[in-house]
Amino acid sequence: MDQKRFATQVGRDLAVARDWLLQDQTVAIPTETVYGLAGNGFREEAIHRIFATKNRPLYNPLILHVAEVSKLAEIAENIPDMALQLLERFSPGPLTLLLDKTPKVPDLITGGLRRVAVRIPSHPMALELLGSLDFPLAAPSANPFGFISPTTTDHVVAQLGGRIPYILEGGVCDLGIESTVVGFDGDLPVIHRLGAISLEDLREVVPHMVMQVADSTHPVGPGMLPWHYSPRTPLLFDAAEAAVLESHAPDRIGAIRLSQVLEAIPSGQQVVLSASSDLVEAARNLYSALHFLDSLKLDVIVAEKMPETGLGLAINDRLKRASARR
Ligand code: TXA
Ligand code: MG
Repeated sequence: MDQKRFATQVGRDLAVARDWLLQDQTVAIPTETVYGLAGNGFREEAIHRIFATKNRPLYNPLILHVAEVSKLAEIAENIPDMALQLLERFSPGPLTLLLDKTPKVPDLITGGLRRVAVRIPSHPMALELLGSLDFPLAAPSANPFGFISPTTTDHVVAQLGGRIPYILEGGVCDLGIESTVVGFDGDLPVIHRLGAISLEDLREVVPHMVMQVADSTHPVGPGMLPWHYSPRTPLLFDAAEAAVLESHAPDRIGAIRLSQVLEAIPSGQQVVLSASSDLVEAARNLYSALHFLDSLKLDVIVAEKMPETGLGLAINDRLKRASARR
């Protein structure tokens, strides 16, 4: 695949985005969770371009985005009742479902798996763009594989500028953390990736929802890679601060905090995710905090563990992966 260079443009013109997509190029698009790197989900050339632009291994499958439930029939079949109930409650929104794929979905999208990931985003520009196309958009987060997901167009420019022709400006992502991925193991609804819809909220619709556990019969799924979402600066999650201060000068340490800064570290190197300890607000600010602290080129970033409730679970999941060694 050619690694063409572009003079990347940022704008609000849906027609321009559409034109590039019709030429099998990739375009960064806003969603309510994070910015996505979108391409025609029915065209192998466009799909290959997404993988190449992100440096993403082909075994890690992509989510297909559509504008409405009626568009699902083209890409998914045997949709369980539970899935329909979840769609009813949470779509459009940050819910991704793993469903049996139709033959129309290229194997390249699913990494050869039998099931395809589908989602109906709620960002108005994403919906309008999808509504103007007669194909679904494959869209992983618009960051190089393994690095921090983008929640603003500035983040996309910094990471993929020059590699894509167009970035659709849709403001700061409302939710700031990726969709929750749910699959079905027979009658058992299983969370494959924690995300912007909490376990508690999902259980209001399907009370027996469980978390995916990795064992020999269920190897770790592609959504559960040990390292991911990572800054270039080493990140320590839930570390003893005293020990970190013993081995690093205070002005070389950055900190991600829920509601209060640490006394021993300069406050300009710390980000409070939510002064009121609101975990929805904290999730919204998480990736911006990581992008900002990474740009300071410090020696280390320490991240506080969030309460294990609501979106705290998803934030901890991301911070834990961001702290894993490559
Ligand atoms: O919020 C989101 O989901 C964003 C926006 C752009 O929609 N997209 C996103 O895509 O986060 P990506 O590719 O960064 O993450 C998709 C996750 C990956 O962990 C992938 O392994 C998993 O979903 N996934 C995709 N298709 C799958 C499949 N068929 N089976 C199991 N896991 C799948
Ligand atoms: Mg991603």
